[in-house]
Amino acid sequence: MSIKAPRGTYDILPPESFNWHYMERVLTETAELYGYYEIRTPIFEHTELFTRGVGDTTDIVTKEMYSFTDKSERSLTLRPEATATCARALIEHSIYGGAMPVKWYYLGPMFRYDRPQTGRYRQFRQFGVEAFGSDSPYLDAEVIILLIDILNRLGLNNYELHLNSIGCPECRQIYRDKLVAHIRPQADKLCKDCQVRYSKNPLRVLDCKVESCHVAIAGYPYIKDYLCDSCKTHYETVKKVLKDNEVNFLHDDNLVRGLDYYTNTAFEIHIPDIGGQSAIGGGGRYNGLVKACGGPDVPGVGFALGLERILLALTKEKEVLADNSYADVFVIAVGEELEDMSTKLVSKLRKNNIKSDKDYAGRSLKAQMKFANRLGAKIAIIIGEDEINNNYFTVRNMNKGEQSQVANDNIIEHINNILANS
Ligand code: HAM
Repeated sequence: MSIKAPRGTYDILPPESFNWHYMERVLTETAELYGYYEIRTPIFEHTELFTRGVGDTTDIVTKEMYSFTDKSERSLTLRPEATATCARALIEHSIYGGAMPVKWYYLGPMFRYDRPQTGRYRQFRQFGVEAFGSDSPYLDAEVIILLIDILNRLGLNNYELHLNSIGCPECRQIYRDKLVAHIRPQADKLCKDCQVRYSKNPLRVLDCKVESCHVAIAGYPYIKDYLCDSCKTHYETVKKVLKDNEVNFLHDDNLVRGLDYYTNTAFEIHIPDIGGQSAIGGGGRYNGLVKACGGPDVPGVGFALGLERILLALTKEKEVLADNSYADVFVIAVGEELEDMSTKLVSKLRKNNIKSDKDYAGRSLKAQMKFANRLGAKIAIIIGEDEINNNYFTVRNMNKGEQSQVANDNIIEHINNILANS
């Protein structure tokens, strides 16, 4: 039996990879416009980072981590997310000692032992930003505005931004007690997962997708009514700045997020008709995370986007995302005796930054022309006996079907002209 990619993983081949390059360029260029710069961290970390950072009662830590013991008996885990990783890097390099806030972005694979389905994988890619060192609600608003700007630049319009505040540990504890008291009489009607959540992390019952759980907790108290003055002001300011900047959002009392590190602002982006998992991204403020990871009391805020889900949404809206031609110019020459000439010409084209290729399979003239078409070439340059004897090339504009004879010395200028106008 042949070996296949593990369940929940997949290959990205060209031309699909062209779409990824396009998307990644928009993500990174937009983040840099806002002053976020790239951090690259290891793919695996000490398991303890995630149990402490993400939380040992979360689904991620209890069910979804790819953990293993290495040859020195260390417990390591393939990163399921990168916020805790960034907090670890901030502490390890004492970055918090310098000018604040520190604004980072990252892009790369994450790993979760999830049940694979459309838009849900075991190895998936996230683009995320993290801003450490400021408690300003204007920074919460900035990361949300950046997120919306990215979606707009990508051409995604049918998203919903859900927003909530889950308070600070003090006001959340008061709310948690109220919620538990409300749920207690109905606890045996909750689904199996929520029975566990109810005792370990009762807020998570609020975003359960099982209808009977919602029926069981009907009339539950809202956290917005229990926020302390400082958390209330923070949330009101975030909402005001978003409104001032024409960012539409829906206040969502059920939004609590699935990772333990959040405080105050929490948000998610949904595309309801994506045809798979609707959450394309999420984030929020995490003022206790750096401390929980063993560092000083440094606040933070950020988000991560699920790139497979973004691409799913994008390809629903647009048929062609990126220029998917493999070569702009294909050099056609038939026969071994012309091989030196065609090699020299593609070298010259490439040195002049013209994306070009040639035949390496001994194809006939007709087959080379067909192949040039398959590669999406805009121009074919044909070299034959007559061309060599008289120092010219035959240039075929593939889109227009026009053919002309161009002197060898003028070839680069001529090709650049056609490409500039195509
Ligand atoms: P998260 O909500 O767990 O947050 O993940 C963010 C996004 O990653 C999700 O909205 C989803 O689009 C994508 N995602 C998650 N799991 C999968 C999967 N199995 N397959 C495909 N896509 C998936 C975090 O990870 C936080 N670290 C976000 C954050 C950054 N909060 C503050 N800063």
